[in-house]
Amino acid sequence: MKTAGRNDPCHCGSGLKYKKCHLALDREQGGVVAPKQVERAPQPRSRRGMLVLSERERDRMRAAGKFNAQLMDEIRGMAVPGTKLDDINSFVDAYTRDHGHIPACVGYKGYPKALCTSLNEVICHGIPDAYVLKEGDIVNLDITSIVDGWHGDQSETFLIGEVSDTARKLVQCAFDSLHLAIAAIKPFSTVREIGAAIVKRAAEDGFSVVRDFQGHGIGRKFHQEPGIPHYPDSFHGGFVLKPGICFTIEPMINEGRPHSKIDRSDGWTARTIDGKLSAQFEHTLLMTEDGPEILTQTEHGPRPGHRF
Ligand code: MF3
Ligand code: CO
Ligand code: CO
Repeated sequence: MKTAGRNDPCHCGSGLKYKKCHLALDREQGGVVAPKQVERAPQPRSRRGMLVLSERERDRMRAAGKFNAQLMDEIRGMAVPGTKLDDINSFVDAYTRDHGHIPACVGYKGYPKALCTSLNEVICHGIPDAYVLKEGDIVNLDITSIVDGWHGDQSETFLIGEVSDTARKLVQCAFDSLHLAIAAIKPFSTVREIGAAIVKRAAEDGFSVVRDFQGHGIGRKFHQEPGIPHYPDSFHGGFVLKPGICFTIEPMINEGRPHSKIDRSDGWTARTIDGKLSAQFEHTLLMTEDGPEILTQTEHGPRPGHRF
């Protein structure tokens, strides 16, 4: 493993020299561990490795995605001025358990609540609290359910009442970039094609793509191989999306700089370092022999082509 020097490219993948990018921030945070440098991305393992799903396993993932999407339809109406974030959390927890399922976030690596609520400059992993949504906010609601042992994971960013033109444009960009990435892949595409589509769409609006968090393989485990970076990277980029592979795409698009910092107080909340807005959409997908199938498509949510 190679440790980056001051003049080497930054570990975050920005293309900037380390000294111009994360050096100051890493010092401030007491140092972070740079990602391992590996020759190439791991390829799907055999059936026993459980990445390439059988027909029966695909149906289990379809059921998990379907329930999670139904829950998203239930909470969509709560994304209005006056809603307390803790009340969305209570609803998600109760609805999931009432249907015999498990909210995956509760206790995941110590996470305390049933969903993530990421407000305005929060990139991801915002923790619901007593905050009351107000006109002009944007908020991402990210829900993950475990249905009979299998995971469904999705998020949407909501406009709370009337928002600024920039906020609306950013949310549109995040939504479009997710659906352009889905449209860009077919059986045996590589992960790189996902990131290429997202970076292209973000660049059209002059927005940036977050590199510190990525999509992921999903199944019996919440997070597994392959990593799905939302930019074309050389480590995970070569991974082949064979039929039977399940994964998420969840681009986080920033109004300003792509960098993040995590709140010291809770160890979860990831914010933009410049305080500017961030928006995200997420779906769980199954690559089939005919192309990607969205497992978390809602009945009432926005479809490709939607205008915010
Ligand atoms: N739902 C997030 C994702 O899309 C993960 C949240 S982990 C939690 O991968 F612990 F913060 F809930
Ligand atoms: Co999620
Ligand atoms: Co996810």
